[in-house]
Amino acid sequence: MRAVRGRVLTLRANPFLAEPRECLVHHEDGLVVMRGGRITAFGAYELTKGALPPGVVPAEYPNALILPGLIDTHVHYPQIQMVGAFGAQLLGWLERYTFPAEASFADRRHAEDTARLFLREVLACGTTTAAVYCTVHPHSVDAFFAESERFNTRMVAGKVLMDRNAPSALLDTAESGYRESEALIRRWHGRGRQLYGVTPRFAPACTEAQLDAAGALLRAHDGLYLQTHLSESPAEVAWVQELFPARGSYLDVYAHAGLVGPRSVFGHAIHVDEADLCTCHRTGAALSHCPTSNLFLGSGLFRLFDALDPRRPVRTGLGTDIGAGTTLSLVRTLGEAYKVAALRGDKLDAVRALWLATAGGAEALHLEDRIGRIAVGYEADLCVLDTAASPLLAHRARYCTDIEELLFVQMTLGPERVQATWVAGEPVYEAARTPDPYRY
Ligand code: GUN
Ligand code: ZN
Repeated sequence: MRAVRGRVLTLRANPFLAEPRECLVHHEDGLVVMRGGRITAFGAYELTKGALPPGVVPAEYPNALILPGLIDTHVHYPQIQMVGAFGAQLLGWLERYTFPAEASFADRRHAEDTARLFLREVLACGTTTAAVYCTVHPHSVDAFFAESERFNTRMVAGKVLMDRNAPSALLDTAESGYRESEALIRRWHGRGRQLYGVTPRFAPACTEAQLDAAGALLRAHDGLYLQTHLSESPAEVAWVQELFPARGSYLDVYAHAGLVGPRSVFGHAIHVDEADLCTCHRTGAALSHCPTSNLFLGSGLFRLFDALDPRRPVRTGLGTDIGAGTTLSLVRTLGEAYKVAALRGDKLDAVRALWLATAGGAEALHLEDRIGRIAVGYEADLCVLDTAASPLLAHRARYCTDIEELLFVQMTLGPERVQATWVAGEPVYEAARTPDPYRY
């Protein structure tokens, strides 16, 4: 049994659908007790300390915010080697930077080394669950899940499927993609906390036969995810119209192959219309908002408040989309989500922002009954932000008048790396533990 004590913040309901302040659960001096990977007691320290057996001393985090572990609903681990590549929009960027980087994963050792670095960097940013694209090479998936299993993180990942419009070294076929994905599903899906995501890259890189094969995989195995890209840039949308002239919209290409439903996660979804949003609402499909990526590639401004319109809310999470995105930190990503909303004339307050990076991400992944909140029975994944991480931040924090301002300032000024990250009730990253802050 373990416990943490400090200022705790979590959400009890969706602040896009209810008054944000009423959704917030806040304890100035809170206690979270964990056993067997789950939260067994949670509340104000004075009222909850009776749940601590003699001899269990809580880890104390003064000057900190203890949050649920953060959830990244869209990220490419093989792309950490080309983050911040200069001067291209989506399609040129894929050709010039992304495909060569992913080709280097033909080397299994490179995949293993990168997966190791990636997972440690993700944990250092307070992220405890992510929906991860690997490469077309099956061993890139083995490398990632092996690393995730070591830390016992709850992760979704899958082998990229693409059978056209990419260098030949990166192409599979509808048949080989099906076969290799199925072997990975049997090896990893539901093993411990690992979950498999069928991962057709995007419609322009997949023939109709390959999209149909992805649909067949989803029908053949229970509880799989489907992750892909949707309507990210205007040139991409025009290309999809050319490649699939019979379909009513980009989303319709995926729907026709049986790829739109619960546990489908569509990255970007900037250039979608009301009918597409209604389809996502009706089917339980989710969108991943990736603001740093969208700003960096100049793809456009996601309509966050339309997606979450209470009349037909669409499950929506936050994505870093490394390597088009420019940070693995979801806290930083929220700062950019605020700016994207501002450019559209909307205001993303701190409570709604926290929801996007925690319970909203969990809803997007249909895992809202086990992650994304601090509550009894939930999986014990936590992230601890240091509110005095720099002299500037400590100074600024002294002038915050309430908890929402303190949280908002973290989004704007906070560092990439957090103070501590806990996974399934164990501390896996502690910034103060030197020289090696990682548990494994
Ligand atoms: N569309 C197809 N592949 C990709 C990718 O790797 N990154 C982004 N941002 N968009 C894509
Ligand atoms: Zn992406």
